[in-house]
Amino acid sequence: MSKAKPMTIAAVSSTLGAGLALLYSTPANEKESVNIPTPQSKSLPSPDEGLVILPNALTENNTTTAAIQEKTPPPVSPIGILKYGNPGPINDKITAISLHGAYDRRTRNPYWVAEHLTRDSVSSVIGRRKNNFRQDPSIPATFRARVSDYSKSGYDRGHQVPANSARWSQEAVDETFKMSNMCPQVGEGFNMHYWAYLEDFCRNLTSRYPSVRVITGPLYLPAKGEDGKWRVSYEVIGQQSAGSGSKDKDEEPLPNVAVPTHFYKIIFGEEENDDHRIGGQVAVGAFVLPNARIANDRDLGDFEVALDNVERASGLEFAQELKSSQRRRLCEEVKCDLKVKDFSDAVEDVTGLMAGAKI
Ligand SMILES: *[C@@H]1O[C@H](CO)[C@@H](O)[C@H](O)[C@H]1NC(C)=O
Ligand SMILES: *[C@@H]1O[C@H](CO)[C@@H](O)[C@H](O)[C@H]1NC(C)=O
Ligand SMILES: *[C@@H]1O[C@H](CO)[C@@H](O)[C@H](O)[C@H]1NC(C)=O
Repeated sequence: MSKAKPMTIAAVSSTLGAGLALLYSTPANEKESVNIPTPQSKSLPSPDEGLVILPNALTENNTTTAAIQEKTPPPVSPIGILKYGNPGPINDKITAISLHGAYDRRTRNPYWVAEHLTRDSVSSVIGRRKNNFRQDPSIPATFRARVSDYSKSGYDRGHQVPANSARWSQEAVDETFKMSNMCPQVGEGFNMHYWAYLEDFCRNLTSRYPSVRVITGPLYLPAKGEDGKWRVSYEVIGQQSAGSGSKDKDEEPLPNVAVPTHFYKIIFGEEENDDHRIGGQVAVGAFVLPNARIANDRDLGDFEVALDNVERASGLEFAQELKSSQRRRLCEEVKCDLKVKDFSDAVEDVTGLMAGAKI
């Protein structure tokens, strides 16, 4: 994505008093910094520097060094620790008929979850929300987010792949209610409103693109403190689990689930190519929104960011295999506008979400 928009990012994060412009915008001299030679780089010493000769000569005539480096086995074996088991990290795969992604054991949030929308999938409304939030048994119990962790936290159990995008089957809807697909989200003004409209916007894109893929996930972004230093600060919510066997059941809830500061959506609008198969042009849009109330009239374009900004912030890579010749910019092809209807309509629209979001 060539269109870095540092101003936009700053605007996004200023909603929370944060600012990732400096950290995550694409610096003009990025090419240079990427090309700083690393020690393992073979091209490090340029041939005309003459430095290449020196270490070689030393090695040749310094038998002590040669012996230590090549003949005597090292006195330590750091890798031997693996006999007790590899610490990881393991990024559990989250997979179901309606979603696919990876889970972050440390934050008890997903790293990313992908949905796929087609004209058939959005026009078919078979499944209903049953609000059957439940633990994901595929995640080891120690690292699971529990339904009760969100109780009295003030945060919604915020779907990353929305239930409403999976209504083509009851099983598909139910699968979205696993806690591995949830992040703590501000309810009023965000999960129930602006965020829900953004989800609707994604589904509506199927009227323009026959196939739409959306990757959604949390971010934990640094904010600049009054002392001018950047820090990452986020709340952690949780309840003592009944099954934990802990002696201090009556004490304070144990923090378990991290509350993200922001969320991203990467949207891929896939065109059909000439023989009506997916594989033609792809319109890509990346958005970062604060986990906070957002006014209905805020332009979605205010939250558009360059894809590589999300990659830096998340540590993930989203489209390495997508050829630049195939790429288009989503907000150049469609109006990135949520067209929020008047309040009465909006309430009707999100009644389902509201019903189950707060328990
Ligand atoms: C290596 O060092 C030894 C002893 O200092 C010297 O006699 C010899 O000529 C050196 N060899 C080379 C190739 O420089
Ligand atoms: C040989 O290598 C050792 C270790 O790097 C170094 O301390 C020593 O000075 C070297 N000797 C010569 C003759 O270069
Ligand atoms: C999605 O499309 C419907 C039907 O045209 C429209 O009422 C709604 O406002 C659209 N949603 C968004 C967020 O644009």
